[in-house]
Amino acid sequence: MGRAGAGGFVSFEGIDGSGKSTQARLLAEALGAQAVLTREPGGAEGAEEIRRLLVEGDPARWSPETEILLFTAARRDHLEKTIRPALAAGKTLISDRFADSTRVYQGAARAALRPMVDQLHDLMIGLEPDLTFLIDMDPEAALARGLARHSGEDRFEELGLGFQQALRAGFLDLARTNPHRIRVIDGARSADVVAADVLAQFHAWGTA
Ligand code: ADP
Ligand code: TYD
Repeated sequence: MGRAGAGGFVSFEGIDGSGKSTQARLLAEALGAQAVLTREPGGAEGAEEIRRLLVEGDPARWSPETEILLFTAARRDHLEKTIRPALAAGKTLISDRFADSTRVYQGAARAALRPMVDQLHDLMIGLEPDLTFLIDMDPEAALARGLARHSGEDRFEELGLGFQQALRAGFLDLARTNPHRIRVIDGARSADVVAADVLAQFHAWGTA
């Protein structure tokens, strides 16, 4: 397990508007029928229903603890219904966000909650991607891209530039402590150039 030929679990992470959804899609397109593209929160029918509870509405709608439980519940459904079946079928499962997002958004941004995030992950998820691409870029530029979308899912993006800077630092910290799994990719380049970098690193990992 873990090598491109026999499938594997690949995640994309980064702050809002960093281009990670674009890159997840471009990698899936490059891999063709071998790939299953999915996303969090969501990626399964029930998990997409939980997504709506999380990304729409008042930013103060949930307490931090309730929010962690909802993200974990969505991830558990995604794991059961989409991720494990795809990996069992030998596919390359590409997820736009996974547990690193909870570590950073719910954990690093509110440091006191990180132990709870880790305990829930161990208890209910217990799986890490084989390979994670962190699409890294300056929050000011990323925020301008993200807010331009007006998708109606702006609950997290509206938290502002300072929050996005803390998130970027949190993702880079995770990359430093998990160098075997996380590749930092400079996202401040054209989408095609970033995609070529991602594909080259994916193939290098697959043949390592
Ligand atoms: P994320 O999933 O990280 O929020 P998206 O992939 O949805 O980011 O991209 C956010 C916006 O920026 C979209 O409008 C997208 O078309 C645009 N975009 C994505 N990648 C690039 C890039 N490398 N350069 C310029 N614009 C980009
Ligand atoms: P996403 O759809 O990836 O948003 P974007 O394309 O703008 O990056 O994710 C929705 C929001 O949910 C995003 O702001 C990040 C947040 N999020 C968490 O706070 N914790 C999590 O565990 C996940 C998966 C996402």
